[in-house]
Amino acid sequence: MNSVSDIILTTGMIDADNQPGQIYWHAGQNGQLSELVTLSERLFSLNVPFSVISVQSDVKLGLGGSIYLDDNIDNDNSYQHLAFVPKQTIQALGNKQFCQDYNIKYPYMTGAMANGIASVELVEAIAKADMLASFGAAGLSLVEVEKAIQRLQAAIPDKSFCFNLIHSPNEKGHEDAIVDLYLRYGIDLVEASAYMKLTLPVVRYRVKGIHKDIQGNIIVPNRIIAKASRVELASKWFSPPPEKLLKELLAQGAITNEEAELAKKIPMAQDLTVEADSGGHTDNRPAITLLPTMLALRDQIQSQYNYTHELRVGAAGGIATPASALGAFAMGAAYIVTGTVNQACKESGSSDIVREMLANTGQADVTMAPAVDMFEMGVKLQVLKRGSMFAMRGNKLYNLYKKYSSIDEIPSVDRANLEKTIFKMTLEDVWQKTHEFFSERDPVQVEKAKNDQKHKMALIFRWYLGLSSRWANAGVADRQVDYQVWCGPAMGAFNEWTRDTFLATTDRRDVVTVAINIMFGAAVLSRANSILKQGVELAGELIQYQPMQLDTIEKYLTE
Ligand SMILES: Cc1cc2nc3c(=O)[nH]c(=O)nc-3n(C[C@H](O)[C@H](O)[C@H](O)COP(=O)(O)O)c2cc1C
Repeated sequence: MNSVSDIILTTGMIDADNQPGQIYWHAGQNGQLSELVTLSERLFSLNVPFSVISVQSDVKLGLGGSIYLDDNIDNDNSYQHLAFVPKQTIQALGNKQFCQDYNIKYPYMTGAMANGIASVELVEAIAKADMLASFGAAGLSLVEVEKAIQRLQAAIPDKSFCFNLIHSPNEKGHEDAIVDLYLRYGIDLVEASAYMKLTLPVVRYRVKGIHKDIQGNIIVPNRIIAKASRVELASKWFSPPPEKLLKELLAQGAITNEEAELAKKIPMAQDLTVEADSGGHTDNRPAITLLPTMLALRDQIQSQYNYTHELRVGAAGGIATPASALGAFAMGAAYIVTGTVNQACKESGSSDIVREMLANTGQADVTMAPAVDMFEMGVKLQVLKRGSMFAMRGNKLYNLYKKYSSIDEIPSVDRANLEKTIFKMTLEDVWQKTHEFFSERDPVQVEKAKNDQKHKMALIFRWYLGLSSRWANAGVADRQVDYQVWCGPAMGAFNEWTRDTFLATTDRRDVVTVAINIMFGAAVLSRANSILKQGVELAGELIQYQPMQLDTIEKYLTE
């Protein structure tokens, strides 16, 4: 399944009567004609422009030669020109400066996936292929994150990668400690996410170390790729750090006067990933409406502050195929971010059972369920519905939490049911375990629970929500029905695209092959679309691109 013949590119018949204009192609000395059946091959050779031409009643492809705007040519080798297909590099799909700034080859990023699902192996693979990956630090302990930093810094000292900095309203001390860790290890690029407002730790991270070089340029060592799905938040990321927080950091002695002054001239984040309907935390906004709004916001804030380095917008949510990637780039995304599809790849920190479940997922097999990190606030995230009862059970727990003020208020029938089906132990035992966990990780929670029975109930319920994703990652077989698997509709789209190809099976899915196929495929489709946009009808069928092996793609890229 890995030769060029596996690639189906359906062209159908070209309607040669649909003439775009009086343009002629002349073969000259070096021009070559080839049959229409070689169209897919021609499209794959991204660096080689070609023409679609009409030869008597036939349609052919012209390589080289010359194009003329008048018909005053009396030559057997001149034919009516129907369309020109330009060169399309993968890099040029997005923003070249983005690639330069982060020292990567393609404007492609794999987003963080909590609990190390975006694992060291995943980050390493993507970084070695000169793309950008974000390590899934959320939900991990400081010790685990530190180990990941050490491993990646040792394995790929010269490559770019980033770490997730996640807003943790329930664990304020943790966010501060993570920032300390990143600063200590020189992690100078983070993907910041789940922020509902800017916090002292994230501002401290951004501002620490700002200085002027001898030419007077402002140098900002710590860079943030922020993630947001709401305009109010996006505008905070694109604006300079809030004065109030700068003053507080100054008062604490956490930053210097110079750092606070220079901070007023830079945005919190130069890059903002617009998160549409994705796996995990999402507002379920459609990318097609969200992206243009955020692009307009970028322009407005850029002209307001006139930053030296222009603001950029990337797209995430629903991207797992060449067509969706091309759509995002065509709308103006500087770069794209994938998530869900990478969890299904062999490098992810998830389990084989989950990878198998994901391989059988359709677009409608996802639903919303309570998020463990913001359970009390009613925040939800998108999870896999097919094959798991987690969403139903998680929602049940949230409804009980809303309705009652303490565990003791829950009617005994409901309580017995929870203990039997969800927790598989008494709620007293769950509290014992929860107590042990938080005593070590965040003792404030235990203190609070002593005087606040509703908080105690939240902690008990969060025990299930927290473990359900760990059972999934560890592949605990007898808890499969409780797996919490963060997943967006992108998974179904990917499965559709790769059906009956080598990427249909889980053991063949690796993050680099997936990434390169999405990006290469987007460039191929861009070239194919350019034929359609010049008025040449590729009758009946849409042009498709099916996955290819990396060495085959590499061959085309070097032509
Ligand atoms: C399993 C999983 C875990 C995720 N965890 C995080 C996380 O901890 N931090 C974060 O910023 N984004 C997280 N995301 C979001 C991804 O980084 C990415 O932005 C998103 O998945 C892109 O949309 P898609 O799922 O449609 O590809 C997660 C997504 C998934 C699927």
